[in-house]
Amino acid sequence: MTQIAITRTATPKQTPADETLAFGKVFSDHMFLMNYEDGKGWHNPRIEPYAPFTLDPATCVLHYGQAIFDGLKAFRGPDGQVRLFRVGDHARRLNKSAHYLCIPEMDPAMVEESIRALVEVDRRWVPSLPGTSLYIRPTVIATETFLGVHPSHSYLYYVIVGPVGAYYKEGMNPVSILASDQYVRAVKGGLGAAKTAGNYAASLYGAEEAQKAGYTQVLWLDGVEHKYLDEVGTMNIMLKIGDEVITPPLNGAILAGITRDSVLTLLRDWGLRVSERPISIDDVLAAAKAGTLEMWGTGTAAVISPVGELGYKGERYVINGGKTGALTQKLYDTIVGIQYGTAPDPHGWARLLGNRLGG
Ligand code: COI
Repeated sequence: MTQIAITRTATPKQTPADETLAFGKVFSDHMFLMNYEDGKGWHNPRIEPYAPFTLDPATCVLHYGQAIFDGLKAFRGPDGQVRLFRVGDHARRLNKSAHYLCIPEMDPAMVEESIRALVEVDRRWVPSLPGTSLYIRPTVIATETFLGVHPSHSYLYYVIVGPVGAYYKEGMNPVSILASDQYVRAVKGGLGAAKTAGNYAASLYGAEEAQKAGYTQVLWLDGVEHKYLDEVGTMNIMLKIGDEVITPPLNGAILAGITRDSVLTLLRDWGLRVSERPISIDDVLAAAKAGTLEMWGTGTAAVISPVGELGYKGERYVINGGKTGALTQKLYDTIVGIQYGTAPDPHGWARLLGNRLGG
């Protein structure tokens, strides 16, 4: 890849105390930038001091939402080493999202290199308290100044990073979720499989309604029959009924979560029966009533989030006695162990950050 030009900030900020970290509120000293123009391709990769952008009010991303992003994390282990979790897979997923949004292809090796270079420059921002990490947000926005509706002829790819703590205020404690029979996040044939801004915009109204009703998140049901589970909040959903672990299949309406894939891989390694198949809300409620249900969400931000309560059509169902299930806890401990370099990593998911650029 072309050499990345690095301009370091003259005014480095103070990093916050690890104990004070929330999610997504603090950003580091630098950002990575690269531009695309038709005829020129992706060009001018550079790292600059973190700063606001200036955009023309007619910039098309502001009107039609041609925007994609991904989210991954770097962890500082007790050995002081910094590890990036499944960085290559996140880079490939960003490229897939680009495809769905008619954004010109991005070389995943280039995306990975941009992330590595930025995290190396801002290495001192990787926190070390257990449960904290450096959240990395690669993003692409359409930058053409034009109000007609067509794929943009120019784009900006940028990466920002910031130290984070737990995503939910509940931390790793069970959350309550409301299955929505009214609102949907995405439909097959739409953009549900892309990590694109619009999917999150589509989730806001239903999420607000769930919160007003006293729940943390929405359990999204399919957009056609409102019958089958799709996702939960900003995560993939998984459940165990008896000896079978079930998660909805990648049917085009849901995101191919990297944590989802990590969990499925671990479960298969452990010899568990795993099914990627449609699962109806009625089957979930029956298992909740029978007391045979364990349920959790998977995502980069929250890692594993146990579900302790499920609401549906005015009824509340307690799951697993409202407690974190044994399998949920084992999955969390194993993935977190790999991320911090304290557990064996047979699939080579945690990649050490080199120190080529110092910082
Ligand atoms: C994730 O958990 O990976 C997410 O996508 C959450 C993010 C939108 C904050």
